[in-house]
Amino acid sequence: KGQAAAQGLHIVITAGPTREPLDPVRYLSNHSSGKMGFALAAAAAELGAKVSLISGPVSLPTPAGVTRIEVETALQMHEASQQLAGECDIFIGCAAVADYRAETAAEHKIKKREGEETLTLRLIKNPDIIAAVADRRDAAGGRPFVVGFAAETRDLEAYARDKLERKRLDMIVANDVSTAGLGFGADDNAALLMWRDGQGEGGESLPPQPKLELARAVLRQALSRLAEHPVH
Ligand code: PMT
Repeated sequence: KGQAAAQGLHIVITAGPTREPLDPVRYLSNHSSGKMGFALAAAAAELGAKVSLISGPVSLPTPAGVTRIEVETALQMHEASQQLAGECDIFIGCAAVADYRAETAAEHKIKKREGEETLTLRLIKNPDIIAAVADRRDAAGGRPFVVGFAAETRDLEAYARDKLERKRLDMIVANDVSTAGLGFGADDNAALLMWRDGQGEGGESLPPQPKLELARAVLRQALSRLAEHPVH
């Protein structure tokens, strides 16, 4: 029964970090390994979905049956997401997107300056990729079911609920990234799922477990919410 649960659905997932160049040899990034997003892609393929995985630079093999689109910067991830958002049923934003990029990436390597102890970098905001997907409407007024993540180090539930509403998501996977052994780079994760739909608000707490198991639970919940409210 589970095997056919996502048959005929196209699921798009973003994963990994983005890399924002400062000059030809340096960049701004974060510790995302891609493991959580790749686990979601593997779990979605297992369920029979067509899966597109938009990934930042990570060193993980592509899960069986998954189409991988490689990007580096947030702007490239945004572009790839916009291209696929119009043709998918579920969009899951698991990538740790850099909120800011250098206003201009230097053409040549930035030199160390004699006698200057500080260097100021001017950063500019990147687009919010998942909020842009959630704001899209096709000709019939529809859009995919949008699942975001929230990586928090405190006040998990409150910050995640704020992101759920502000970004107009259908569901959010809130993970506390300050717990050792979970979150960034780890093999395991725990999460609080929260959603908003015509029936009101709901939630489910997922205890620490391997990321593949957690991915299956996230998809189960997303698919059952989508089944109750197929039209977006
Ligand atoms: O990759 P791993 O090592 O396995 O680690 C997994 C993880 C901790 C990275 C993952 O579980 C996770 O929490 N991913 C989201 C990380 C994040 O950037 O969260 P955020 O709270 O800053 O962003 C909230 C949501 O907005 C996310 O869905 C994010 O993809 C999205 N976002 C954020 C900024 C931006 N400019 N565009 C976005 O779409």
